[in-house]
Amino acid sequence: MRRGRRTVAKLLKLVPKPLVWRFARVYIAGETIEDAVRVIRGLNRQGCRATVDVLGEDVADEREVAQFVDAYRTMIETIVREGLDSNISIKPTAMGLKIGPDLAYRSTVEVLRAAAKHGLFVRMDMEDSSTTTTTLELFERLRGEGFTNTGVVIQSMLRRTIHDIRRLAETGASVRLVKGIYVEPREVAYQEYDTVRLAFINMMDILMASPAGYAAIATHDEFLVESARRMILRYGLPTSRYEFQMLLGVDPQLRRLLVAEGHPMRVYVPYGKGWHGYSIRRLVENPKMASHVARNVLGFGPGHEAAVPAP
Ligand code: FDA
Repeated sequence: MRRGRRTVAKLLKLVPKPLVWRFARVYIAGETIEDAVRVIRGLNRQGCRATVDVLGEDVADEREVAQFVDAYRTMIETIVREGLDSNISIKPTAMGLKIGPDLAYRSTVEVLRAAAKHGLFVRMDMEDSSTTTTTLELFERLRGEGFTNTGVVIQSMLRRTIHDIRRLAETGASVRLVKGIYVEPREVAYQEYDTVRLAFINMMDILMASPAGYAAIATHDEFLVESARRMILRYGLPTSRYEFQMLLGVDPQLRRLLVAEGHPMRVYVPYGKGWHGYSIRRLVENPKMASHVARNVLGFGPGHEAAVPAP
């Protein structure tokens, strides 16, 4: 399955950007902050909270990091001014993690302080496994220094996660649990779909069973959503201890069903000019995409007009 995804990812990178945009735009609010505000307002009206991601990762120098910090400051001010129900998600590499841990620390502190002034929460996304240790160290340092308005992401596909999650659950951290999107070798990550699912259920159990902390269950996999619903009932978990999270453009019907049932729901809203890498990852996950790329985009079948993936 992983090899298939890798092939589709490689093929998609050959597709011209304007064409990728046609298929990817369901996953992105747009290129501007106004686009993000419009989409968040719409989601809020539907009873969903949001978390905003200013698109971009793997920045090359301090100047680019400063631009991201500024973009997040502006986003925080906009959320407050417009009265939106939203927090923000940041990518540690956009904060400079790969340039140096000190730079990442300083820039993340700037964003956390700006958010804390307005009581806003900041989620640190998790990237590929080369950044797991440094991201968790950064997160735990910040928590240790009293920044309570931040949480982290844990990937169930990683073999190490069973240890990380116990530590995080014990300290009452806010954790977003995901399967993990990055392609990793077998020594690092489970390769089988069912093993990743089983690990997700185990991690969810550890999070929900802990007396403190917050579980953000981020998945569109209905099997896992159903497991979460059962666990929430079993543990009698109040809505102050958990939320579901889904990506913009993916399975809005499931999103609506969960909201109608009274579950807290947060939607991940990416916006900005750096949409290409994020979009490729989303398109690769779309079950219709592999055959779509082969048949339509690469010209092995009828025209692509009829085959735009459903959101
Ligand atoms: P799975 O991929 O099996 O999808 C389940 C079903 O959802 C599919 O069968 C399909 O019907 C539908 N679906 C999924 N993706 C689709 C798509 N693109 N288009 C159409 N249908 C689709 N990862 C990470 O490594 N670090 C992170 O910080 C985050 N952050 C994050 C935040 C939020 C809010 C979410 C929901 C997800 C992430 N992820 C992430 C991504 C996550 O790791 C994972 O890759 C995706 O959520 C897809 O996995 P599912 O659990 O949805 O299962």
